Formats: sequence, C-alpha cells, structure tokens
Amino acid sequence: MNNENAVPRHVAIILDGNGRWAKQRNMPRSFGHKEGCKVIEQTVYDAGELGIEYLTAYGFSTENWKRSDEEVTGLMKLFRIYMKRLMGIAKENNVRVKSIGDRRRFPEDIASGLDDLEEQTKDNTGLTFIIALNYGARDEITRAVKKVAEEVRVGALSPEDITEDVIASRLDTAGIPDPDLLIRTGGEMRLSNYLLYQAAYTEFYVTDVLWPDFRMEDLKKAVEWYMHRERRFGGVKQEQTT
Ligand code: IPE
Ligand code: IPE
Ligand code: MG
Repeated sequence: MNNENAVPRHVAIILDGNGRWAKQRNMPRSFGHKEGCKVIEQTVYDAGELGIEYLTAYGFSTENWKRSDEEVTGLMKLFRIYMKRLMGIAKENNVRVKSIGDRRRFPEDIASGLDDLEEQTKDNTGLTFIIALNYGARDEITRAVKKVAEEVRVGALSPEDITEDVIASRLDTAGIPDPDLLIRTGGEMRLSNYLLYQAAYTEFYVTDVLWPDFRMEDLKKAVEWYMHRERRFGGVKQEQTT
C-alpha cells in the first residue's frame, strides 16, 4: 500500500536564524533581517513553483517587541519597504496576500499598508501568501474567545452551538486550511507561539539551515520528507486495522 502524500497544500514557516547568520559574519542583526526578507520573497516564488497553495511565514511575534528598540525600529523599516515590494510581486505573480496577527499595535501606515495589500490582491488566484505580523497564537485565541463571548452576550450564539469550527472561524486564519507541513529553520525544536490551534496534526520539520541561507533545494527537501510521512490523524495504520 502506498502511504505517500501529495505536495502539501499549506506550508507554514518559522523563519528563524537571521540574527545568528549576521553574527557569523560580524554584522549587525539588521543585516540578517534584510537578507531574510529577500529569502521570503524568493520562497514565495518557489512555493508557487512547487504547487503549494498556501504559504504562511512568521515575520514578527507578539513576543518580539521585547527586542531592543533599535532592532524593532529596523524591522518596522523593513516591513515598510517589503510591503511595497510585495504588492508588485503579488500583482505580477497572481499571488493573494493575507496577514494574520493583531495589526493594531503597528504604526498606522503599516496597518493600512497591510489592508491595501489584502484588498488589492484578494481576487488573485495563485499562491496565497499569509504573513504573520504581531502574531501570537495565544493572543489570536484570546481575541477569538472575546468575539465568541460577545456573540453570546448579544444573543447571536448560544453556548451549546460553540463547536471547533465556530472557534476556527473566529481565528485570524478563518477560511484557510490547517497547515500540512511546518518548517522551522535555525534548528530550534519549538513552536514559539505559532499556530497552536491550527497545527494540531501538522507534520513538523526542523532544519539547522539559518533562514538567510534557505533556498529552493531546502524547501524541496522538506516537501519530499513530508511526502513520505504517514499521517494518521489519531487513527491507525491502514494495514493494522484488525
Ligand atoms: C528570526 O530571526 C526573525 C525574527 C524573529 C524577526 P531571529 O532574529 O530570531 O534570529 P536568531 O534566532 O536570533 O538567530
Ligand atoms: C519565532 O522566532 C518568531 C519569528 C520567526 C517571527 P523567535 O526567534 O522569536 O523565537 P524564540 O525566541 O527562539 O522562541
Ligand atoms: Mg530567533
């Protein structure tokens, strides 16, 4: 029997290791972030080439505000530049852009830039590129619970009708299928508050490659590894059902 999977429909990436990559070169962390942005751009093309339908990239976590003012300010500058570039790339390549995370904490121009990106690319039919900015899964779940509570308060929803789907549809990822494959670069074996609800049955691939060094061949390796995984979703192996 054949356990092989198709190409993952949704790949989520924790792009880690920009700082270490810069340090190895005696350069400031911002140099690693700049290089990392170029790699995101390339990965959007590459994922489309491989037939991946959804790509979610973790750009900035709710915990990343703890970094130095200098690093955070540098990252905001990069977001501004790359949001503009992304608009062009999305239009040229039929990419639909979405963002997840609480954008209210960002400066107004970044928040409205993200709105524009979503609005102007919403009818594109190629890869859906989801960028997680000021994203934290606990924060996302907390905001979803608040929405549900408010619906119950006004009488639009009764507690008995709260299902897993009701919760999922109040998350930032509403309408997006759960990730099939999660790739973490930089070698750490942890989720760092990423997609906690959505990754319940996601296959988890960790590579020591630092994000600025991540290339198409690394993406292909992860996808090939995924294609040989046997996914059971809590069931049993096909040949062991008795
Ligand atoms: C990931 O790289 C990018 C962001 C979190 C914005 P890091 O900046 O975490 O790089 P390392 O982990 O310190 O090497
Ligand atoms: C996760 O990386 C967040 C992003 C890639 C944006 P971190 O570098 O912030 O995670 P930890 O601190 O190693 O858990
Ligand atoms: Mg890191």
